[in-house]
Amino acid sequence: MEKKGARREAILDLLHDRGGLRPGVSKEIHRETGVPEADIYGVGTFYHLLADPDAGVRVCQGLSCKLADSDGLKARYDAEGKKSCFTACLGRCDMAPAFWDPSDEPPLADCALSPSSPDQAIDLAAPDPTGYTAVAKAAEKGPEWVVEQLETSGLTGRGGAGFPAHIKWRAVRQQAETERYVVLNADEGEPGTFKDREVILRRPHLVIEGLAIAALALEAGAIYIYVRGEFGRVKRDLMAALDEARGLGVLDESVEWHFHDGHGAYICGEETALLEALEGKRGMPRMKPPFPVEHGFRGKPTLIQNVESIACVPAILNRGGDWFESVGRTQPGSKLYCMSGHVRQPGVYEVPMGVSMEELLELAGGVDGTLKAFSPGGASSGFLPADRTGIAMDFAALAEEGSMLGSAGVVVLNDTVDMVEAALTQAIFFEDESCGQCAPCRIGTQILRQTLERYLAEGRDPKTLEFVDDVSWGMCEASICGLGQAAALPLTSAMKYFPDEFGH
Ligand SMILES: Cc1cc2nc3c(=O)[nH]c(=O)nc-3n(C[C@H](O)[C@H](O)[C@H](O)COP(=O)(O)O)c2cc1C
Ligand code: SF4
Repeated sequence: MEKKGARREAILDLLHDRGGLRPGVSKEIHRETGVPEADIYGVGTFYHLLADPDAGVRVCQGLSCKLADSDGLKARYDAEGKKSCFTACLGRCDMAPAFWDPSDEPPLADCALSPSSPDQAIDLAAPDPTGYTAVAKAAEKGPEWVVEQLETSGLTGRGGAGFPAHIKWRAVRQQAETERYVVLNADEGEPGTFKDREVILRRPHLVIEGLAIAALALEAGAIYIYVRGEFGRVKRDLMAALDEARGLGVLDESVEWHFHDGHGAYICGEETALLEALEGKRGMPRMKPPFPVEHGFRGKPTLIQNVESIACVPAILNRGGDWFESVGRTQPGSKLYCMSGHVRQPGVYEVPMGVSMEELLELAGGVDGTLKAFSPGGASSGFLPADRTGIAMDFAALAEEGSMLGSAGVVVLNDTVDMVEAALTQAIFFEDESCGQCAPCRIGTQILRQTLERYLAEGRDPKTLEFVDDVSWGMCEASICGLGQAAALPLTSAMKYFPDEFGH
């Protein structure tokens, strides 16, 4: 029997297969699925890649790419008569200025990595093992042992929120409902972040094994893998690893595996927006509670975990939760940090959680120029000034500083950068990517972008900034999800640490 909602769930795939929202496509899909045409149109227009499939080459306007003159790249395309448009961060900050041509996907360059080391849970530079020893151990010792190891390990989510993994795993296990799901969040859209891409490209079997362990421990019948649409090769590599693992006979054949493409909407990285997208709707975050562990995909208990988090699980089971816990310097585990912007060797570096920013800069070959500021955890983390490089790069220390580790997408700015322009880049990103369902975020992001443009247009008159505090307070307090709650931070932190540039 067809699952309830299956026709609606198919809408995004059908739009994708037909090359996006071209004339007549919404009517065709309506006839095929019975879903109202206006609804299909509304869903299609939400996603950048479906709404405008013929936009040409997409030029990244993430901060690292702006610093590497993505404006110049776009101007060159314009001069050559090549069709192009600006887009939000492409997850290729190590290749700045990045571009992406959907009809001719550019190869992903080899990015710099930390050298292989036994102290790393993921160890990107090591060969990808196909032994699947951790899933065998999990099957032998049982689900409760798996969750206990996670608890001992102290693993916290690597997707941004830093929530303890074992609490989510246990919560799903405790639900009376037996229809349960595991979802992998490989949407990786936070500007400055490109680690999940490298985990899948280099260690796809670790990811498959981590997911298989989650399904086993949670007694989930299906796994959904949500990969950002601009990561074609990443998805293909993961699919190939799944086929290989199936061929090796190391997976439970009763578990279903599904892949779902993202379609160019940053907000779908937020876990409940991602669930809405999986259900064939616009990616608008849900009110929480209830949380996905209780009421997730199709209203059923669902574990959603980031790629890096899930890839840590095999090492935790193989080497013991206490091993993982002991690796971290200030908080448990090793951690992948993405370094981009004004550094000499942009790349992904796995080091003990809580190393200082100074150490990370050294790993990344040093600052290109003189350090002025850095964004420790993607656009949502705002900016910190050069004198904070001694700070431990972990969840607690950065939160205390009024910032966040987030997805550890570190963007480095040298002293040639105008902080007003940097704040404007982030303001434009949040305005473009707001889903628009709640007023503080929808209107607040617009006001902040307009305010900065006026400030620049009107000779940097500080009077134009007089509403910033009130607007950002409203956004923080009243937005439904983390996008609206964090969107003002780039501007308010830049004003706090670089008052001279904001007329004070
Ligand atoms: C606006 C927004 C965007 C997000 N984008 C991502 C993302 O691209 N990838 C990700 O893993 N988590 C992202 N998150 C965090 C997820 O909501 C969620 O916390 C995470 O997938 C849970 O997995 P983890 O516990 O392993 O981190 C985002 C959150 C917000 C508020
Ligand atoms: S905070 Fe912004 S992105 Fe989040 S639900 Fe509200 S409008 Fe949508």
